[in-house]
Amino acid sequence: MLNQKVEKLMNEQINAEFYSAFLYLSMSAYFERMNLPGLANWTYVQYLEETTHALKFFKYVNERGGNVRLATIKEPPVEWKSPLHVFQEIYKHEQHVTALINNLVDASIQEKDHASNNMLQWYVAEQVEEEANAQLIMGHLERIGESKDGLFMLDKELSARTFNDATGTINPTTAGA
Ligand code: FEO
Repeated sequence: MLNQKVEKLMNEQINAEFYSAFLYLSMSAYFERMNLPGLANWTYVQYLEETTHALKFFKYVNERGGNVRLATIKEPPVEWKSPLHVFQEIYKHEQHVTALINNLVDASIQEKDHASNNMLQWYVAEQVEEEANAQLIMGHLERIGESKDGLFMLDKELSARTFNDATGTINPTTAGA
């Protein structure tokens, strides 16, 4: 049986991960409008990843005999000032998600829910990567400044990103990859 306090926080996290998915999808639409297909691709792949983050919690709550509660997903912003502004917001957002995950880990420890603590370690590691990715691209965009050529090159580079379902929630054969 899943601890009640942990269950409540996990349901909130399902909502937070789906909000992250919406946020990245809205950013992808913004980049499409700006004719930056590589940045649109990168944020679209991130939308898919965030969906699997939500589904991993969904599956876990079910597996532990808990009650999944799906709540309304907040509407994400539609416009940003620049590509750099998008990645500044991504970096801030991922730091916020890291704090939510850390809070969940704290709760699992307080409630002596070792199985949940073990499952949450996947997200702890994932958040290190999420923050690092955002910081890396934010740094590139800072250096690029107003250079159209620099932005073109970065956009080309980010067009290579492909979706890999590391959670195995959509494709079980790729779990942990
Ligand atoms: Fe699901 Fe970007 O953290």
